[in-house]
Order: sequence, then structure tokens, then C-alpha cells
Amino acid sequence: MGSTSIAVSQSESSRPGLQSGAELAIIVPTFNEAANVGQLVDRLESCLAGIEWELIVVDDDSPDGTSARVRELARDNPRLRCLQRIGRRGLSSACIEGMLATAAPYLAVMDGDLQHDEALLPRMLDVLQGGQTDIVVGSRYVEGGGDAGLNAARAGMSQFATRVSRPLIPADLQDPMSGFFMLRREIFDATVRDLSGIGFKILLDIFATSREQLRFQELPYEFRSREAGESKLDTQALWDYGMLLLDKMFGRWIPARFVSFMLVGGVGVFVHMAVLSLSLQVIGNTFLFSQAAATLVAMTTNFIMNNLITYRDLRLRGWGLLRGWLSFVLACSIGAIANVGVAQYLFEQQTAWALAGLAGILVGAVWNYVITLVYTWRGAAR
Ligand code: GDD
Ligand code: MN
Repeated sequence: MGSTSIAVSQSESSRPGLQSGAELAIIVPTFNEAANVGQLVDRLESCLAGIEWELIVVDDDSPDGTSARVRELARDNPRLRCLQRIGRRGLSSACIEGMLATAAPYLAVMDGDLQHDEALLPRMLDVLQGGQTDIVVGSRYVEGGGDAGLNAARAGMSQFATRVSRPLIPADLQDPMSGFFMLRREIFDATVRDLSGIGFKILLDIFATSREQLRFQELPYEFRSREAGESKLDTQALWDYGMLLLDKMFGRWIPARFVSFMLVGGVGVFVHMAVLSLSLQVIGNTFLFSQAAATLVAMTTNFIMNNLITYRDLRLRGWGLLRGWLSFVLACSIGAIANVGVAQYLFEQQTAWALAGLAGILVGAVWNYVITLVYTWRGAAR
């Protein structure tokens, strides 16, 4: 019974499925690409004939229903799979998790918005199968490639980003910002535990992380312009990029999130002083009241900024925002007590006042960072 029903459903399927495990997995991170995934699958079908491939769409619970759309397509196409992540954001981490979800020996990463040229995939695979290359990069900046799909501002930004990444990557890699590439599984397996997974630049992450010199080749392609949906690359992505570089350069010693947390804290000092002077000098409240109000306002703006920037990938929303704010204020209040306690103790031990004050700030900041990492943005600890 069971075997006949399986046989029937297979013969009904219009597309030939995988005969064995996939040789090539194409990992596509998506956020609001429901209007593009159908077309993407059609294009892959036609250019990958004769290759055992599978498509893994890693969707961050897009409000436009991309996940549901992929599952709908997957019902009559066994090459497709959707990995839906809930309460998470991030292009790089999506790619990493997609690569972890397949057994294929060759892994490609490609955008889901049809801007990358899928016709390059069979050639990328050929190059890797030749055995002399670890990673093939779809490149806009080698002879024959182009970035017509980028406006002048974006192209300029991309070039600037490339320049500042130079210390981390091979000198002759022309397009380290590319989001279109294919690599051998062993290379991924060897680096995966040390990848930062921050932001947009997964290729840069891989190059900067690999201890071996990667043997790479760049193949030109024309970056197309986007037809449907919109780009998610925003100012936040710029910040993430800075964090990725910091993490790759100094992450062994200081986590990038801590740097971000401290920078936000620095801004918080200005917020605090502004509220204090407004309340005290302009409105004429008492010092005690003004200082307390400034503290609460600064804690709140710090919470909001950290939620937007430092923990963007785990951003709290709705009721979670209220719970997060409460735990943040509570944690920081205890942090303030620790701060004053340590500073006072050191001061009594004849430490110079400025040093005692700074030590208090550092202890309070580390406390706030660690406690809110675990309790406010649960799951950020790893
Ligand atoms: N899962 C997930 N989570 N996917 C995301 C997220 C996210 O938070 N943000 C963006 N994506 C998906 C998009 O849906 C798209 O499929 C792909 O990642 C690229 O995002 P775009 O927003 O279209 O980026 P872009 O076109 O501005 O830039 C892309 O192309 C450049 C040139 O190759 C990126 O891939 C850049 O990294 C790349 O340099
Ligand atoms: Mn795009």
C-alpha cells in the first residue's frame, strides 16, 4: 500500500527530483522576496539541467510570506527546502545556517532577488570540480563584469568598503563584497566555528577567517538591477559592516557586541547630561529629581539604541519590548550600585579619584553588558 502511493505521487510530480544526495546546494537568504522566488526557481531549473542540485531558502520569517511561498513551490519540487528562522535577522547568519543544513559537497550562496546571474553557477561548479580552486567568486569588478544594477552612491560605498577591508583579505581579490560565490564544503567546515556571522558580508567573513590561503578564482558577471521588492541594505548594514571588521580584527579579545554596547553607552552620557541640564537649569527641578530623571531617560534611550543596533538580529518587539526595558533598567540599576561600590572602595584604598571613577564605570559597564546579554536579549550569549 505505502509503496504504491509513493510511486503514484512521484509519477504525478512534473519535475524530476533528486536521484541521490545533492552535489550542489544553492543557499539563498531571503527577506521579503515572495515576488521573486518563483522566478528564481524557474531560472535555476533551466540553467542547472544535468546537475544534482538543491535550493535552500533561509527566510527570516518575512512578513510578505516568502516562507509559505517557498513551501508551496516545494510541494511539487523536491529540490526545494525552506529554513524559516523566527525572531532572527541577518544575511550572513542565514547563509551559515543554510550551509549547515545541507550535505552537498559544493555550496553556493546567491541572492534571492534575481540580481545575481544564475547562468554562472554551472561554470563555478566546473571550476571547483577541476580541483585547483577552493572558492569561486562571482565578481563585478573583473574584466567582463559590471555593477550597472547599483546606483552611483552604492557603487562608491562598495568601493570604500572594499578599501577598508584590505588588511583582512587577499590583495588580488577584486570583489570581496560579492554576495555570490561557490565553495567546497571542506572550506566551510574548517571555518564555520570562527565565522562572525555579523551583517551582510559572508564572503569577506570567510576570507578573513580562513587560516589557510584560499585558492580563489573570480568569474565576471553583470549585477542586474532589482525588479521586485527592495534592497535591505541600509545604514544599519554599514554599522554591521564596521562591527564585522572590528570582530575580525580584535574579536579574539573583545566581542564586537561589547564595543557596540560601549559606544551606545557613550552616547547615553550625552543624553544624560542634556536631560540633567534641561531639568535643573531650564525647568528648575531639584538636583536629586533631575539626576534621577536623567538616569531613567538615558537608560531608556540606551535600551532603545541597543535594541536597534547592538542586538538588531535579535530585536525585541511588542510586549517583549516592555519586558526587555524592565530587565534592562533593573540590570543597569544593579550595575550602578556595583559601579559606585567599586569606585568608593578603590577611592578609600587611596586610588586617584579619576582612576577609581573609571574603574567603577568599567565594572558597571561589563556587568550591564553581560547581564542584559543573557536576560534582556535572551539567546545572544553564545
Ligand atoms: N534571511 C535573510 N535575513 N535574508 C536577508 C536579510 C536578512 O536579514 N537581509 C537581506 N536578505 C536577503 C535579501 O532578501 C536578498 O535575497 C539578499 O539577502 C540580498 O539582499 P539585498 O537587500 O537585495 O542586498 P543588495 O542587493 O543591496 O546587496 C547584495 O548584493 C551585493 C552584490 O553582490 C548583497 O548580497 C551584498 O552583500 C552584495 O555585496
Ligand atoms: Mn539585491
